Amino acid sequence: MSSFSLKNGVLHAEAVALPTIAEQFGTPAYVYSRAALQGALQEFLDVLGAHPVGSGALVCYAVKANSNLAILNLFARMGAGFDIVSGGELQRVLAAGADPQKVVFSGVGKTAAEMKQALDAGIFCFNVESAPELERLNEVAGQCGKRAPVSLRVNPNVDPKTHPYISTGLKEAKFGVAYDDALALYRRAAALPNIEVAGIDCHIGSQLLDPAPFVEALDRVLALIDQLTAEGIAVHHLDLGGGLGIKYKDDQVQPTVAAYLNPLLDKLAGRGLKVVLEPGRRLVGNAGLLLTQVEFLKPGEGKSFAIIDAAMNDLMRPALYEAWHDILPVTPRAGESRAYDVVGPVCETGDFLGQARPLCVEPGDLLAVMSAGAYGMAMSSNYNTRPRAVEVMVDGEQVYQIRRRETVAELYAGEQVLPA
Ligand code: LLP
Repeated sequence: MSSFSLKNGVLHAEAVALPTIAEQFGTPAYVYSRAALQGALQEFLDVLGAHPVGSGALVCYAVKANSNLAILNLFARMGAGFDIVSGGELQRVLAAGADPQKVVFSGVGKTAAEMKQALDAGIFCFNVESAPELERLNEVAGQCGKRAPVSLRVNPNVDPKTHPYISTGLKEAKFGVAYDDALALYRRAAALPNIEVAGIDCHIGSQLLDPAPFVEALDRVLALIDQLTAEGIAVHHLDLGGGLGIKYKDDQVQPTVAAYLNPLLDKLAGRGLKVVLEPGRRLVGNAGLLLTQVEFLKPGEGKSFAIIDAAMNDLMRPALYEAWHDILPVTPRAGESRAYDVVGPVCETGDFLGQARPLCVEPGDLLAVMSAGAYGMAMSSNYNTRPRAVEVMVDGEQVYQIRRRETVAELYAGEQVLPA
C-alpha cells in the first residue's frame, strides 16, 4: 500500500487529506510519511536479518539525501547508523540522537577541523578518498592522541549506467582511490602510526535500477581484499555504499532490496566481514512529496504554462538533472487536460518541475510533486530570496511540523551594510 493515495477523490498522505495540510501550513510544503520512511528502512533490516551474512550489518543512512532531524531521529531509533560528508552533518546526526559508533564519514575534502570533530566524537570509520587525505588524517589523529579507523574508498571502475552527474565509480570520477593504486595506499595506511585499517569501501553511483553493476563492483573489491589478506592487511568490514534506485516513473521497475542485496550477501558467505550499507534515496525518496499550489495559468499556442508557488529553489532535480517527478493533481477534476509546463516563479528558463504534463487544473488547485523526499529539501536554496518550504510529517491521522517555513528576515539576518 502506498502511503500517498487517492481517497474519495482527494490525495492523502496516510490518513490526512493534503488540502488540510495546505490550509494549516501553507504551500509550498514538503510532506513526508512516517510509515513510508520506516517501511523503507525496515525492508533493509528484514533482508539483512534473514541472511546469515547480514547479521551484525550496519545500515548507515546517507544523510545528504534528507537531513531533517525528525527523519534522522526516526532512523536512529530503529538502530540505523549514518553516512555523513561534513562536520555539519556530524553535528546534525548527534543532535538527532545518533550513536557515533555507527557513523561513517565519506567525502573527498575533509578538513582537519572536521577530522578532529569526528575523532572526538568517536565515529565508526573514516572513508578515506585520497593519499593526501590519509596523511592529513594520520597527522590530526596523532595530535589528538588517537588512532583513526579507516576504510579506503576504492573506485572499482564499473559503469552504473545512471545519469553522468551521479555516476561516481568510474575511473574519471573525483571520488575514491583508483583501483590500481589501492593496494599501495593500503600498505601506506598499515604503516602509519595513527591509522587503523578497519575496512574497505566503495560507492559506484546513485539511482541504480539494475543491480548488476553492484555485483560487478563487489567482485572487484573482493579480489582486492584477497590481495590485502595475502599481504597480512586485514579488513574487518565492507562498506558497499548506497545507490539503490527508486521508481520515479510508471515505466520504471524498482528492484526489491532483496534482489539487490541477496546476491551481494551470498558472495560474502564465509568471509566474516561486517557489512555496511549507505542507502540514501531508497530510504526517503518515495516517502515525501512537495505540495504546491497553482498561481496562474498561461495557456499559449506553442506552450502552456502552469505557474506554481514552488520552484527550482525548492526542488532542483528537474533543472539540474532533467529528472522526472510525477506531478499529480491533489483533487483531480473531470474535464479535458492540456499539456502544461509546470514552472515556478524563479527568473530562469530552467525553472520547471515538469514539462508538457497533461493536466486539467485551475488556479488555486493543489499539485503534488511526487518522490521528492530525497535530494529535495536537502538541495533547496534561497535563490530569489525565497524562504525555504515548511516540512511536515504525517503519522496516521497526525501531522507534525518538523521544520517551520523560513521567514524573509531570517534570510538576511546574517548580513550587514557598510558603515555610513
Ligand atoms: N554514499 C556515498 C559515498 C554517496 O556519495 C552517496 C550519494 C550515497 C552514499 C547515497 O546514495 P543514494 O543511496 O542516495 O543513491 N543529488 C543527486 C544524487 C547525488 C548522490 C550523491 N551521493 C540526485 O538528486 O539525484
